[in-house]
Amino acid sequence: VAFPWRSVQHALVVGTMGWTYHHSNNKMNWSQAREFCQNNYTDMVAIQSQEENDYLVSLLPNRSSSPYYWIGITKAHKNDPWTWVGNNSTWIGDHSWAQNEPNNNHSTEFCVEIYVNGGANRGKWNDEKCANLKYPVCYKASCSQDSCSVHADCVETIGNYTCQCHPGFQEPHCEQAIVCQTILDPEQGSHHCFDSYGPYSFNSSCRFHCNLGFRLVGAPRLVCQANGHWDHPAPLCQVKQCPALNYAPTGGSMDCSHPIAPYSYNSTCEINCDEGYEFVGQNQIRCDHTGQWTAGVPACTGNMVIS
Ligand SMILES: *[C@@H]1O[C@H](CO)[C@@H](O)[C@H](O)[C@H]1NC(C)=O
Ligand SMILES: *[C@@H]1O[C@H](CO)[C@@H](O)[C@H](O)[C@H]1NC(C)=O
Ligand SMILES: *[C@@H]1O[C@H](CO)[C@@H](O)[C@H](O)[C@H]1NC(C)=O
Ligand SMILES: *[C@@H]1O[C@H](CO)[C@@H](O)[C@H](O)[C@H]1NC(C)=O
Ligand SMILES: *[C@@H]1O[C@H](CO)[C@@H](O)[C@H](O)[C@H]1NC(C)=O
Ligand SMILES: *[C@@H]1O[C@H](CO)[C@@H](O)[C@H](O)[C@H]1NC(C)=O
Ligand SMILES: *[C@@H]1O[C@H](CO)[C@@H](O)[C@H](O)[C@H]1NC(C)=O
Ligand SMILES: *[C@@H]1O[C@H](CO)[C@@H](O)[C@H](O)[C@H]1NC(C)=O
Repeated sequence: VAFPWRSVQHALVVGTMGWTYHHSNNKMNWSQAREFCQNNYTDMVAIQSQEENDYLVSLLPNRSSSPYYWIGITKAHKNDPWTWVGNNSTWIGDHSWAQNEPNNNHSTEFCVEIYVNGGANRGKWNDEKCANLKYPVCYKASCSQDSCSVHADCVETIGNYTCQCHPGFQEPHCEQAIVCQTILDPEQGSHHCFDSYGPYSFNSSCRFHCNLGFRLVGAPRLVCQANGHWDHPAPLCQVKQCPALNYAPTGGSMDCSHPIAPYSYNSTCEINCDEGYEFVGQNQIRCDHTGQWTAGVPACTGNMVIS
């Protein structure tokens, strides 16, 4: 069983016991006890704080004498550290052991029982031979592999669990990605998105392009963030601008047409020279898609012959 230790830790921090405890009134050796727990519940109990120890003791029926209850802490060899099964934690509290324990009386006392009685040792631990027969104490976690969607963490609560969505996913089941506002093509442009989880949804990445003769103003790429907002405002396509030609040429006149905007992409200007003048270069120029006039600015030059 993949156990969500991270979540359990969270649950303990907020002072709730995320899982339920279970014991059996059938005596068994430590290995059998663990097997019993794993087969019927999640695992043998793994105590990780004094509070949890005391809470557990308060739930278990008192025993007037040995045997008491097996708990999920053990070691393989004399000099190994005591280790909790499940996550290899080595937690032991300052007052966990009963007086003069662990004593390893038989040199092979590699398992631990917890005293649950009315005496001074209530809630204390004692090392014992693993072959001895005692009552198992197990826990059952509410979280299982399929409790929550893959976009969530399962968090144990009192007697149940909740699913905490990962950023970018929404309640109640955390399956649905958060959706950002739909994007429209900019005027004179287009956009194209790559989606991780759905159109205009968390992590969608949209690129913008402008038509010929227009330039992009703003961010060329927008990403839908976990908070449901795009990381930038949508960009605009602005017509490319040529240098303005708003002056009257000597010896002539300029006649321009501006299909989009003054002196911008596709504007054309034509010069008409007065009598006695003629144009130099081309008489008509156009603002091209790069924002440049197709030729030098036309001018009229005097050609008067004094007679
Ligand atoms: C084992 O789990 C407990 C309880 O969640 C946690 O406090 C401890 O850090 C874990 N230990 C290891 C070694 O992962
Ligand atoms: C629990 O697990 C044991 C094996 O360890 C099995 O014999 C038993 O039937 C299971 N069920 C109950 C309710 O104890
Ligand atoms: C605990 O430690 C043992 C031996 O070092 C290792 O095989 C096992 O995978 C560990 N278990 C966990 C849950 O970390
Ligand atoms: C050690 O175990 C023996 C029984 O095998 C028992 O008589 C004795 O009291 C134990 N000693 C301690 C210190 O627990
Ligand atoms: C077990 O013993 C303790 C200590 O004497 C007592 O407070 C508690 O009520 C007893 N529990 C049960 C279930 O009898
Ligand atoms: C526990 O009991 C089982 C089944 O009777 C046995 O195979 C195993 O060796 C025992 N373990 C110990 C440590 O005595
Ligand atoms: C446990 O929580 C889940 C998810 O919130 C819910 O669907 C279920 O009904 C709850 N179970 C119990 C026994 O309350
Ligand atoms: C978001 O998308 C990028 C690729 O654009 C991918 O590498 C990344 O893993 C995705 N992140 C999430 C949380 O899905």
